[in-house]
Amino acid sequence: MELPFAESWKIKMIEPIRKSTREEREQWIKEANYNVFQLKAKQVYIDLITDSGTGSMSDRQWSAMMMGDESYAGAESFYHMKDAIERITGFKFVLPTHQGRAAENVLFSCLVKPGSICPGNSHFDTTKGHIESRGAVALDCTIDEAKDTQLEIPFKGNVDVKKLEDAIIKHHDKIPFIIMTCTNNTAGGQPVSMKNLRDVRELSKKYNLPVIIDSARFAENAYFIKTREEGYANKTIKEICLEMFSYADGMTMSSKKDAIVNMGGFFATNIEDWYDQAKVKGIVMEGYITYGGMNGRDMEALAVGLDENTEFDNLETRIKQVEYLGAKLDEYGIPYQRPAGGHAIFVDVSKILTNVPKEQFPAQTLTVELFLEAGIRGCEIGYMLADRDPVTRENRFGGLDLLRLAIPRRVYTNNHMDVIAVALKNVYDRRDTITKGLEIVWEADLMRHFTVKLKPAK
Ligand SMILES: Cc1ncc(COP(=O)(O)O)c(C=O)c1O
Repeated sequence: MELPFAESWKIKMIEPIRKSTREEREQWIKEANYNVFQLKAKQVYIDLITDSGTGSMSDRQWSAMMMGDESYAGAESFYHMKDAIERITGFKFVLPTHQGRAAENVLFSCLVKPGSICPGNSHFDTTKGHIESRGAVALDCTIDEAKDTQLEIPFKGNVDVKKLEDAIIKHHDKIPFIIMTCTNNTAGGQPVSMKNLRDVRELSKKYNLPVIIDSARFAENAYFIKTREEGYANKTIKEICLEMFSYADGMTMSSKKDAIVNMGGFFATNIEDWYDQAKVKGIVMEGYITYGGMNGRDMEALAVGLDENTEFDNLETRIKQVEYLGAKLDEYGIPYQRPAGGHAIFVDVSKILTNVPKEQFPAQTLTVELFLEAGIRGCEIGYMLADRDPVTRENRFGGLDLLRLAIPRRVYTNNHMDVIAVALKNVYDRRDTITKGLEIVWEADLMRHFTVKLKPAK
């Protein structure tokens, strides 16, 4: 008999978590203004709000932290991190930042101007925020198929090359760079194929435009290339990563995802002029160029994490867990963005809470219902997160309305996945009785989902 699949690690340290009663949760969510970001973490039983900075570090990472060199300038830990980044990505100029959005802030301060157009596949919300807050446009040229959640294709995160070329022809002089997010978080953690990256590279050469990879989950993307794209089955993840980055001029990185650290990020490139410009901004915004908002010990952990998470076994364990949760939802008939993404399951709420009007934010409503059901905290990736159009100030209802269940790396077991699936099934089974959603009481101008205050709709 063939042995079943199991994790490529064993557990050395645990943190207790606690269940709560429905009455407690009703009180807590009310106090949190029906916004799960405002809950205290201790009020949550299983926390799927994000996979960012929430992973478990390995024994090797923890021991590397003891070697942190906390010198202000030229710390040895910076060079360990820089060497790992260069070996894995091929980029030799590395500027640390405290997290991914800070790398965006530093780089975009140099490259994005009012009126700029930044095309690519779907921009993550902080990327979009850093572009729009500079009076520029984040132009989403993702393939249309990504919007059909039930369509099963291997590389749903791809950019539509025709749409991209049309945009380049139309706006050429206003485009500072093309940005490719790998994996495409907004489209459901869906990967971008190597062919797509190669095609984008050809376009960029034809029109003399640089390419940046938003690389938060580049290693998960490489896993999908290895397991789904012809010609890559026998390549190592590290070989695939090097090829992916060879089609780009620079990268922004949230190390809180695929480098499995709790905090950190960086910008890396081979364009010396970009580095020279960015380091001036980096010093003002983040700190000196060899630490940029990071501790020496965190740079040590990052170097080890990058190495570990560009190994197949680690990625396979992680992605098979997300697939396991997807398979459970299949059993219960719960629709989600198919196939299962690299870091999360994105539940398609427009197919579930059909009685809740879009003005009452169905995905946010389901997020609250799942918390009330079992203390599970997911995250709305839908109409609330889409913010208002910067010009018309209308809600943007054009995209998908999803509940994201992001799985932290190396944290929960498949027993937790079973609990999540059953809790969601219980809500799903009573979906027709949920007819009212939520109303906004207060919202911020930008990235409102973090701080929005809501109340049950009348
Ligand atoms: C694709 C992508 N880019 C950028 C970021 C921003 O990174 P950070 O949260 O480290 O600022 C994220 C965070 O979730 C992300 O998913």
